Amino acid sequence: MRLILLGAPGAGKGTQAVSLSKELQIPHISTGDIFRANIREGTELGLKAKSYIDAGNLVPDELTVSIVKDRIQKDDCKNGFLLDGFPRTIPQAESLEAALESLNTKIDAVINLEVPDDVIVRRMAGRRVCKSCGRSYHVVTIPPKQEGVCDACGSQLIIRDDDREETVLERLKTYYEKTAPLIDFYEARGLLINFDGTKEVQETTREILETIGNRENRI
Ligand code: AP5
Ligand code: MG
Repeated sequence: MRLILLGAPGAGKGTQAVSLSKELQIPHISTGDIFRANIREGTELGLKAKSYIDAGNLVPDELTVSIVKDRIQKDDCKNGFLLDGFPRTIPQAESLEAALESLNTKIDAVINLEVPDDVIVRRMAGRRVCKSCGRSYHVVTIPPKQEGVCDACGSQLIIRDDDREETVLERLKTYYEKTAPLIDFYEARGLLINFDGTKEVQETTREILETIGNRENRI
């Protein structure tokens, strides 16, 4: 299955991606995680991306698109992939469509996680992420077993640089301006499926798996 996870910052894309990618056995590809890894490693890409990310803006399309195009052609994507945080603009979505067309394939479904702004702001304020594997936790709603330590890999949990309140508000503004138009874009292609992202994590995962399973049976 070739899937896209769509939703505002903090909607729970990364959280859902962990279990969806495990259940469906397809790689989880997060452009945000790729940029953060490059920033940590001090690569040229990381240096270029950092100023945009810290300001709550999008990294330019020309940088982002080529990363994803290369990634989806890797061997582990032969049976599908789960894109998290990409595409984020109409031009990115069009480039993805063209790239997949040239590989004789297409997106099967777009999972849109719906969460109101006030819930998003609360989620980001309490988010902690693993320094090494990127897994997300929340100090109140989804705490790790041991405070400050990742359940999955044992590394330290940190606060993301772009989770300061003023940056979160800027990211939300960017989302409504640049990314929300993708809802109509994918709706028009019959690919959009909306989910209530405010439910318990496992419940949303179950609903997503059930819905895309039924959809696959129909195709
Ligand atoms: P990116 O890393 O993609 O950030 P984002 O879209 O802003 O989304 P987040 O990762 O903040 O949220 P999420 O939806 O993954 O939520 P999470 O699961 O963590 O991008 C960062 C930056 O990189 C962008 O701002 C941009 O600059 C750049 N970038 C990335 N991709 C780009 C692209 N394609 N083009 C251009 N620029 C790009 O959950 C959030 C919190 O809520 C956590 O604490 C979690 O534990 C909690 N939570 C999750 N689900 C639930 C639930 N059901 N109930 C209670 N709490 C929950
Ligand atoms: Mg994320």
